Amino acid sequence: LARGVREPDLTGRHVVVSAGGTREPLDPVRFLGNRSSGKQGYALARTAAARGARVTLIAANSALPDPAGVDVVPVGTAVQLREAVLKAAADADAVVMAAAVADFRPAVYAAGKIKKKDDREPEPITLVRNPDILAEISAERARAGQVVVGFAAETDDVLANGRAKLKRKGCDLLVVNEVGERKTFGSEENEAVVLGADGSETPVAHGPKEALAETVWDLVAERLR
Ligand code: CTP
Ligand code: CA
Repeated sequence: LARGVREPDLTGRHVVVSAGGTREPLDPVRFLGNRSSGKQGYALARTAAARGARVTLIAANSALPDPAGVDVVPVGTAVQLREAVLKAAADADAVVMAAAVADFRPAVYAAGKIKKKDDREPEPITLVRNPDILAEISAERARAGQVVVGFAAETDDVLANGRAKLKRKGCDLLVVNEVGERKTFGSEENEAVVLGADGSETPVAHGPKEALAETVWDLVAERLR
């Protein structure tokens, strides 16, 4: 087959992809968020659809247009993302968690806008932990043989941190990106290593997010066979 042309090897499969970044509201006008653009998750959704899969894309605050032929479920917070992913995962052959999920959320949501008070210093913001969706999906496996994939952006000891995280999460594959200037966030390109729970290590050369997405689906399709 020519480069970029793939067999429809995901035909009859249902895959769930989460994308974007969650936002954790403080009050009606403010939130804690992150820099995820959603591009990698959307590339995963597009390429899976092109390979014949039925795709559910759980999209957290992404400004990107809905990919053709994909069921898009918009969400805001980590708690909403968890609900949507668990629901879609019930009959899924694969779940890919490409979303950047906030680890913490404000303990209290102020129903009214938080205002400055005279000359006083602001109140500190207390945070509480969000649920770990990837760990939960991995532990539960709504369907036998379901393949679960996580993403991790690391700065130092990239591979060692990746291996430890793969084990901790209990997923089948972990895509590890090295974060640096001009890498990963908001960019069109990506460079990564895909670690497998079976000990495999698949390097993906610097290139478009579509190429990384195709490699992820190659590895998922192998595990579904
Ligand atoms: N993830 C998740 N739920 C969370 C946090 C993360 O499902 N509450 C998923 C992400 O979607 C990603 C993977 O877990 O696929 C790894 O995210 P990462 O932030 O690297 O992992 P953490 O366990 O949060 O570790 P760290 O302390 O390095 O942020
Ligand atoms: Ca995290």
